[in-house]
Amino acid sequence: MAKSMGTSAGKIALVTGASSGIGLLSAVELARRGMTVVATMRNPERRGRLEDAARAAGVLERMDVRQLDVTDFDAIPGVFEKVAADHKRIDVLLNNAGFAVGGFAEDIQMSELRHQFETNFFGNVATTKAALPIMRRQRAGHILTVTSIGGRIGQPVVSSYTASKFALEGWTESLRLECAPLGIKVVLIEPGAFATDIWERNSELGANVTQADSPNYARAQRFQKEVIKQIPQADATEVATLIADAAEDPNPRLRYMIGKDAKIQWAMRTILPWKWYERILVNYLKLRD
Ligand SMILES: NC(=O)c1ccc[n+]([C@@H]2O[C@H](COP(=O)([O-])OP(=O)(O)OC[C@H]3O[C@@H](n4cnc5c(N)ncnc54)[C@H](OP(=O)(O)O)[C@@H]3O)[C@@H](O)[C@H]2O)c1
Repeated sequence: MAKSMGTSAGKIALVTGASSGIGLLSAVELARRGMTVVATMRNPERRGRLEDAARAAGVLERMDVRQLDVTDFDAIPGVFEKVAADHKRIDVLLNNAGFAVGGFAEDIQMSELRHQFETNFFGNVATTKAALPIMRRQRAGHILTVTSIGGRIGQPVVSSYTASKFALEGWTESLRLECAPLGIKVVLIEPGAFATDIWERNSELGANVTQADSPNYARAQRFQKEVIKQIPQADATEVATLIADAAEDPNPRLRYMIGKDAKIQWAMRTILPWKWYERILVNYLKLRD
């Protein structure tokens, strides 16, 4: 249940990837809680959906839309310092920007794997590093990073995505310990599958994946058909509510897993012997060669 404006009034939140999906919904929810939201996006021409949602929620005046591509590493520190100068502080950073490269690991080129890491890992590291000096000065702040159930459990056919999210989980867990004495709260959000643009507009396939001479061509086609059948319907508003709750919590946990599918998968992975788990997954996802 969404909360109304409370102790968050006057706080400043910066969200990456606010043009769609979880980033957009979280930006609106944080504004509904009373925060001023610096809603960043790589292409501000795509601000329309966010502004419509913010207007409908009556919080458009608390939205400050700015351009930020999380892979523009040289520009990121300047953007954060300008936000801190204009708004006097940054209380919450929501590292949300991300996308998924699909394809069997054998077919993924090194450049494609690197591209995945540039956004999902190095991009989120760069924004966090830009926020840290500001939050250190304040001796306060919340850094929330959206990983995935794929950051806890290996997922077939998205090994690049899974690897980038595992890396982010490890880096963030270490950071949590370093930041605890500084008053900076570091949090991981681990969603299962929710209906957003990541499944279609923002999904990318490795260049070799669709080539008929790929050794994985037949099973890639089969897998893709399965994925299309299972494009998630779950409403990502649930994730946005959890994010806003964690951003308002003075003592948040390190990890928040969300989504029935994620919780079932986590239970299967941790309770079943690996051999059984593997057999179930391979059959269920039609991975046989
Ligand atoms: N939906 C799910 O099922 C799910 C599950 C687990 C984790 N997640 C994670 O949730 C986060 C948000 O994804 P979503 O599901 O909301 O998907 P989405 O609707 O596709 O949103 C992704 C956002 O990231 C932005 N983005 C991509 N590359 C960027 C870059 N280089 N710089 C700045 N922004 C960039 C996109 O901008 P454009 O509009 O310009 O493309 C978009 O705003 C991601 O980290 C994703 O891995 C999603």
